[in-house]
Amino acid sequence: LMSEEKMETSANVSNGAKPAYEEKEAALSPEDLSEMLAAGTREVHEKAENTQFVKDFLRGRIRKELFKLGAVALYYTYTAMEEEIERNKDHPHFAPLYFPAELHRHEALASDLQYFYGPDWQSQISCSQATQRYVDRIHQVGQEDPVLLVAHAYTRYMGDLSGGQVLKKVAQRAMKLPPTGEGLEFYQFDAIHSAKAFKQLYRSRMNELELDEEVKKRLVGEAVKAFQFNMEVFEELEEIGKTIQEDVLDAGMPVHGATGGDINK
Ligand code: HEM
Repeated sequence: LMSEEKMETSANVSNGAKPAYEEKEAALSPEDLSEMLAAGTREVHEKAENTQFVKDFLRGRIRKELFKLGAVALYYTYTAMEEEIERNKDHPHFAPLYFPAELHRHEALASDLQYFYGPDWQSQISCSQATQRYVDRIHQVGQEDPVLLVAHAYTRYMGDLSGGQVLKKVAQRAMKLPPTGEGLEFYQFDAIHSAKAFKQLYRSRMNELELDEEVKKRLVGEAVKAFQFNMEVFEELEEIGKTIQEDVLDAGMPVHGATGGDINK
């Protein structure tokens, strides 16, 4: 899925002794958190892949107005998540996963929204109901049970690193966005040269957290919840999509891409 040309690590990723990508890649075992998360979310991941909104998006059936609302939802979600990550960056159960330069999406999303909505973007957006429920949970976790923040970071960032480049190309083609990447900064991780290597690093960092079995199980439960929050946002977008009239959609906007033609020629 991703390009794997260069293997570079920023100072932030390196732990000093060895380049980060050589950090021990121990044989995986079922009690490793990374394995528990992958196995425990497999079923809900498949469900998420099969929501109508996600399927439509992958087929290039995405209207710009709905895509913009998706970016708004992501903006509120990442703002909350990264606020709580900053609050907990020195917490021993989160510190090894603190990669602001590599992962954080708040600024990318702010500039995408500025591109879509103009300089007045902040006064034009609002947080939807489903997004608000997700955001509330993130804040609750960050403030009352910060170890669970790992589940939220895992669900979003590992997912973004897995599908980002594909989704970016789909969106670019479907909405005829400029090849410069404007409006799609969210999908571009400039400080990560190999998504595959970074995901391996992230997994090994998760596995090195000192967590007992009970906490790891709670983390899996929270990750399943995080997937469900995401699905609820997709379902809400799907419903909004049904109410947006094409002609209203196109009013005052360039028509290209607004009807979301299939990308498959
Ligand atoms: C991993 C595809 C939607 C979260 C992956 C991987 C693929 C994939 C192929 C494996 C990458 C690898 O092993 O390196 C897709 C497709 C989707 C989709 C095709 C939509 C049609 C989602 C959604 C979320 C998500 C909606 C959550 C919001 C994740 C996570 C991982 C992942 C957390 C990492 C799994 C792990 O290795 O532990 N996805 N995904 N994905 N995806 Fe998705």
